[in-house]
Amino acid sequence: MLQWFDQAGRHDLPWQHPRSAYRVWLSEIMLQQTQVSTVIPYFERFLAAFPNLPDLAAATPDQVSAQWAGLGYYARARNLHATARICVEQHGGDLPRDFDALLALPGIGRSTAGAILAQAWGDRFAILDGNVKRVLARYHGISGWPGTPAVEKQLWQQAQAHLPDSRLADYTQAQMDFGATLCTRARPACLVCVLQSDCVAFAQGRVDELPTSKPG
Ligand code: ADE
Ligand code: SF4
Repeated sequence: MLQWFDQAGRHDLPWQHPRSAYRVWLSEIMLQQTQVSTVIPYFERFLAAFPNLPDLAAATPDQVSAQWAGLGYYARARNLHATARICVEQHGGDLPRDFDALLALPGIGRSTAGAILAQAWGDRFAILDGNVKRVLARYHGISGWPGTPAVEKQLWQQAQAHLPDSRLADYTQAQMDFGATLCTRARPACLVCVLQSDCVAFAQGRVDELPTSKPG
């Protein structure tokens, strides 16, 4: 995965240079429901208005929503602002480098907390967004809708088991890029895929049926 990333992954995303907890967190919240190409100009504009977390915390709600305007899902902007204020009051003005403390913040779930720790500090935490779920379900031939708790649990276990010992920031980005550009939902590039020889779905001819869609 890391070799693939070095050759074919995305290395020029604005939140990769420089990588800071504030920049990674902001990008992850924006990317939760919005695609990369749309996020990039908003990310740059938002950072120009609020260069660091204390600046964001000090802004008014109107100033924050003005910079968010157009991205949609406004609860994300409200959570972002609330989180910035909590971090100033309780964590010295930065995101905490602690999984449980991150999870307690508004708008940050398990996968986003892992993405922040891995990308900002290189800590060994897994992510499991929609792209990663799809790749893992196919690679391990895991059936069942990933929204089912039992299936999600299996996927988290696999995500955890695959973590490398180093380069966690690159590995995290690699997984997102792999699912977004190679093992895509509608047109996976199995014939050129570096994981093909060990991919259960490919071996069993089940790529098209995995991950299992939502029942009903
Ligand atoms: N989705 C969530 N985080 C992302 C990232 N860092 N790059 C691309 N897509 C993402
Ligand atoms: Fe995805 Fe196909 Fe690669 Fe399996 S072989 S991981 S289904 S792209």
